[in-house]
Order: sequence, then C-alpha cells, then structure tokens
Amino acid sequence: MEGLEEVLKEELEALHLRDIKILKRGVECEGSWAQLYKCNYHLRTAIRVLLPLKTFQIETQEDFYDSVRTIDWSAYIAPEQTFAIRSTVFGEIFTNSLFVTYRCKDAIVDQLSEEKDYRPDVDLDDPDVVINVHLKLNDLSISLDSSGRSLHLRNYKMRSYKAPLNEVFAAGIIKLSGWDKKQNFHDPMCGSGTFTTEALMMAANIPAGKFIEKFSFECWPEFHQEIWEKIKETGEANIHPPEGEIFSSDLNSFAVRDLRKNLQKLPFRSKINIKEEDFLRSEGDNNGIVFLNPPYDKRIKVHNVTKFYRAISDQLKRNWQGSHVWVLSGNAQAMKTFGLKHSAKITLDNGGIPSKLYKFELYEGSRKSKYQNS
Ligand SMILES: C[S@@+](CC[C@H](N)C(=O)[O-])C[C@H]1O[C@@H](n2cnc3c(N)ncnc32)[C@H](O)[C@@H]1O
Repeated sequence: MEGLEEVLKEELEALHLRDIKILKRGVECEGSWAQLYKCNYHLRTAIRVLLPLKTFQIETQEDFYDSVRTIDWSAYIAPEQTFAIRSTVFGEIFTNSLFVTYRCKDAIVDQLSEEKDYRPDVDLDDPDVVINVHLKLNDLSISLDSSGRSLHLRNYKMRSYKAPLNEVFAAGIIKLSGWDKKQNFHDPMCGSGTFTTEALMMAANIPAGKFIEKFSFECWPEFHQEIWEKIKETGEANIHPPEGEIFSSDLNSFAVRDLRKNLQKLPFRSKINIKEEDFLRSEGDNNGIVFLNPPYDKRIKVHNVTKFYRAISDQLKRNWQGSHVWVLSGNAQAMKTFGLKHSAKITLDNGGIPSKLYKFELYEGSRKSKYQNS
C-alpha cells in the first residue's frame, strides 16, 4: 500500500527474505517456498504475495496474446482446476483492464485446449489459481498470486461499523508508530475495532493469516504440504499472552457491540478493556500510545467538524499529557484547527481517501511548551 512500503520491507527483513527492493506500492524480494508461505501467513502489511512467472516487452494487442501463450499453463492449471485473472493496465496498448483479462483468458484456454486437450473454467468467486497481469506502457509482467484473496481479509471481521479501516492499513499505521507492544494501547474511537484487533494480534504474536481458510498456493501443483504444516505449527506455538494493556472504546454502543463480535475468534480477547465512552470525557493516560481515527465529516458526518476537532485536541491537552498520540484523518482543513502542534505528518492513501497521519508528543511538565502552540 502506498506509504507503507518501508514497514513491509522491515517485515520481509524479519522473515529473512533476500535482495529486498522498495517499489511504488510494493516490495520485491527473493526467497524460498517456505518463505513464500511465511509471507502469506505472517506479513501484516502486504495485500498480496505474487510469484513472477515472466516479463515481456510488447507493442501491440497481438504481442500480448502471443506473450501469454509462451508460458506453459499446464504447469500451473491442472485439468480439473478453475482460474481467475486480475489485471492492472496503464498505457495505450489497451485502455480497458477487463479486455486485457479476456484476452489473457483466451490465450490460456486456447493454448490448453489446442495443445493439452482440456479447457479449464473461470471461477471469479473461489478460483484455484489466480493469475496477475500487470501492463505498464510496454512492460508486461505475468505472475501467480499466491494469496488468492487480498490479505487484508483476515477472516476475523464479522461486523463493520461505519467507515472501518482496512486491516493492512491499520496494521501498517501501528507498525509506523513503533509501538513496543508493552506500552498501554488506546483505541478510543474504535468503531468496529480494526486498530484494536490488529494490536492484539501483534501483541500476542498471532499470525496475520491464522484465520484465513485457504491461500491460493495450497492449490498449486508444486505445493509442499509438510513445509506449510510446520510453518503453521510454529506460528501457533509462538502465540503468547500480550504484555501491555489494550483499551478500546467508542461513543456508540453498536460500534462496541461490533468490536466484541470481531474479537470472537481471537485468543486473549478477554484481556482487552472495552467500554462505551465519549472520548471528550475520557479519564486519559499519562504514558500510553493513542490511535485516534475521528470521523472526517465525509463518510461519517459531524455537526461542526472544526469545533469537534478542537474539542478533541483540548481533551488531549487536558487528560492525555505524557502520551504519544497518532491521529488519522482525511480532513486536513479540520486538522488545522487542532490546538496542538504535530511532530510528524505522513501522507497515506486510505482506500481512495487521501489521508494524513499526524503524530503528537504530549510531554508532561516543562517540555510541553516546546510542542504546543496553545
Ligand atoms: C472513522 S470511525 C472509526 C473506525 C475504526 N477505526 C474502524 O476501523 O472500525 C470513527 C468512530 O468514532 C466514533 N466517535 C465519534 N465521536 C466520538 C466521541 N466523542 N467519543 C468516542 N467515539 C466517537 C464513531 O462512533 C465512530 O465509530
């Protein structure tokens, strides 16, 4: 995801991948089969893990079709298997990514029916094999998508209260903050609790993919079941109780109810302190880390949003001195009325809503004047 490439790189380093290179909205690296499985199971900030098959330089639509046919698809799609294609296209050779998908499907099916005597079916909902096509100007790359579905679909979220964050996005923000998993973690406008669930998973070392039922690599002809079982076994064995405390609250009782539902599958959920509370009346903490995702007055409307943001900053100054506060907002105008000076500002793409993540260090006592302008 844009803005989270660096944290993804750090995650890959922790899994000992090699030759890691940051790209725009992605990271490239080298690794073994076991590492490919581990990436799917453990990475918290990857959307999908691709295995590149071949790259080409093409000039025309005919080149595209011919290039796809140079890959021996019988090595990847067995006669009884289904497949799906996902295409991203920039440039003038094709203007429509759906048309690219159709031409890629034609090339694959034509090859297999003419040369191998079978015609695999397309299944858009639950395909065995997912093929990723990326065409940027003349550069074509064709990969297998080892994840299948987007990895943000962790399969713990049963309910979504208004404007939920994407799980990968929330995990990336927590990682960007450098939270040590011991300091008190606060999610006081929790909605359906994406920050809370991701924080618990990190603190308890619960693999990001623990609840995902099937990854696409499990359907590949070359699949090493015993390696995969061992990775899951080790992942389970390394889960442990969280060390720090997690506090989650929301003004709205439906949000709190949805958070409880979303925690149902998670071990150690009873350790989370959940309550229905107005943040503007919260007791505060003088040594916590706080993740605030207030309504932007876009998807969730707010009566007098500038007054609301001002009240949030007043409350932070009143009861949260000593804490580190991260505010994610898509309303830059309202953030200007925030009565605190940020020490960092990071631009992120929150599912199409350009957003900024602001860091406020609320020092206690004499240091506070350095960081506050009112
Ligand atoms: C953008 S949503 C949060 C979404 C959440 N991060 C998630 O991933 O589901 C904003 C939340 O702030 C809550 N909220 C608004 N005003 C509040 C207040 N004064 N105190 C506590 N929560 C509030 C809303 O009920 C809503 O659930």
